Amino acid sequence: MGEITLKIDGKTVEAEEGLTLLQAAGSAGIYIPALCADGDLEPYGGCRLCIVEVEGWAGLHASCTTKVSEGMVVRTTSSLIDSVRRTLVELLMANGHGDCLTCPANQRCELQKVAAYVMPQEGRFRGVEPAHPWDESNPFFTLDMNRCILCGKCVRTCDEIQFLHALDLAYRGYETKVSPDFDQPWVESICENCGQCEAKCPVGAIYERARLEGAPSAETRTICAYCGVGCGLYLLTRGERVVGVRGDPENPVNEGRLCVKGRFGYDFINHPERLTSPLIKEGSRFVESTWEEALDLVARRLSEIKKEHGPEAIAVLASAKATNEENYLIQKFARAVIGCNNIDHCARL
Ligand code: FES
Repeated sequence: MGEITLKIDGKTVEAEEGLTLLQAAGSAGIYIPALCADGDLEPYGGCRLCIVEVEGWAGLHASCTTKVSEGMVVRTTSSLIDSVRRTLVELLMANGHGDCLTCPANQRCELQKVAAYVMPQEGRFRGVEPAHPWDESNPFFTLDMNRCILCGKCVRTCDEIQFLHALDLAYRGYETKVSPDFDQPWVESICENCGQCEAKCPVGAIYERARLEGAPSAETRTICAYCGVGCGLYLLTRGERVVGVRGDPENPVNEGRLCVKGRFGYDFINHPERLTSPLIKEGSRFVESTWEEALDLVARRLSEIKKEHGPEAIAVLASAKATNEENYLIQKFARAVIGCNNIDHCARL
């Protein structure tokens, strides 16, 4: 694809043909407020916050659905654009979106960021206070429609990325809401709990309940230990506790996506009953030991069994939680040290 040259807010911008104005502005470091656009999803044009003016074109245009073209002259702010955006945000606030301090998305909310940019006034409009019951049927996350801005990102994510279409926008007008299939409790829908909708929600409408324990204070890039796919993720921590997981969008294996185990299966890390040292059975009870004691015992017993019953009496089961290199070593151990081919692996996803 060729390069296109255009001007955005007086700045000359080079953009690849096919990009939207929103993408071209973003890559040139020019901020345009946007709530329904997402680089992983098809252009939608629902929230209208990304409106811009294009010289020679009548009216305002959603920059997330308008492609760049040669010689375009674009303005991302003017008194008309600012006043339309302010009105749009004030209308959202009039529908009950303003109680940020108690919102689970506080400080990571896209609407907050947009509001800080457009500076809405309070109380210009009076809307209908939504009173939707929370759907807490899902074991991991809650749907609070009272905080939803109907951007449709969750619906489109489930459709375009997960190919499941477990969610849709149901009803009309003020009654419109995000609904699992057939408007049944979430847990009874076809949802597979991947949590991708929660990750894409720009506000606090779909949120992981574990996050209510407090926001993370740090994150560490790592690889999921559940299976052999090797998805990239960030472990979100607060002090010494793991309080959440987010997919790594830069990882070529999963591009930010995770399955239910990778995204939500981290509670064992902090579980008080988690084994953190080896146990050796003495009589009818297990006694804590050091790794040296445990490994010496295993080596001694394997030698004894091999001597008494031959190598075929021993089998080795490898783990998907280990690395490829470690699994290579364990099959070497079975074949070269024990002398048998009785080796298997638990990765049968
Ligand atoms: Fe363009 Fe919502 S971001 S219309």
